Amino acid sequence: MSRILENIEISSCEVMLMDRELFEKMTSFFDVRSAGYDEHMRANIEHFEEFYAAVADAIPPGDEPYRILDIGCGTGLELRWLWQRRPKAYIVGMDLSTPMLRLLKGKYRDHAHQLEVVQGSYTEHSLGAPSSWDAVVSVMTVHHLLHGPKTALYRRIWECLKPGGLYVEGDYIVSVENERKALAEFLAATQGIDGAEKGLYHLDIPFSAATQRNLLEMAGFCSVSVSWQRESAAVLVAKKGGLY
Ligand SMILES: C[S@@+](CC[C@H](N)C(=O)[O-])C[C@H]1O[C@@H](n2cnc3c(N)ncnc32)[C@H](O)[C@@H]1O
Repeated sequence: MSRILENIEISSCEVMLMDRELFEKMTSFFDVRSAGYDEHMRANIEHFEEFYAAVADAIPPGDEPYRILDIGCGTGLELRWLWQRRPKAYIVGMDLSTPMLRLLKGKYRDHAHQLEVVQGSYTEHSLGAPSSWDAVVSVMTVHHLLHGPKTALYRRIWECLKPGGLYVEGDYIVSVENERKALAEFLAATQGIDGAEKGLYHLDIPFSAATQRNLLEMAGFCSVSVSWQRESAAVLVAKKGGLY
């Protein structure tokens, strides 16, 4: 028995390297899971319908044209609710994953004239000229970013919103204590891995509402509120001031 153990003994350093190889790159994580993605979300997101409805409800209702950028739109689960709320909205969805975007386009053929998709990373790709959007939305996607890259993204979102525009984020949320624990674990596990902090790997690092509020305020948003929260998910609404 001990001989077998000796033969397979590996150092803690090697264990760390093996773990790192298990980190999946964000660029391919959703490509390979796109086919079962919607069913997976329906089964695993608590209060699924209520959560996606709450994301859309954070946007004021109306029949006028409205421009929305949805970053990390995936297969577009939230689009159904966004169009219920704003039937004339023109929505641009941005995502890394071509298979996810292909499914989105197939689902919303009836809205083709109100829809555009962009394949690219929201941490690098232009989000549009200043004052391009009435609202920017992100759902279940920016919890892969650490503080610096997240604040930089929030600042770019702030810049491309119209004065008075809204940023709506539906995502996981944790208590201050769990945030501390998760952050310590994340930092220990990703030491020396380039790009982990900016979401290059599929690693979750959800923050507390207090941290989210700080980061959004640092990025320039003038009012930040939690419009909906249940257990581990919340909808945050950040408003860009009206006079620029
Ligand atoms: C959990 S899915 C959420 C999709 C959709 N918003 C929803 O709620 O069903 C996360 C999505 O974010 C995308 N994503 C992650 N990081 C990204 C990045 N840096 N730029 C663009 N898309 C990204 C993934 O490809 C994936 O489609």
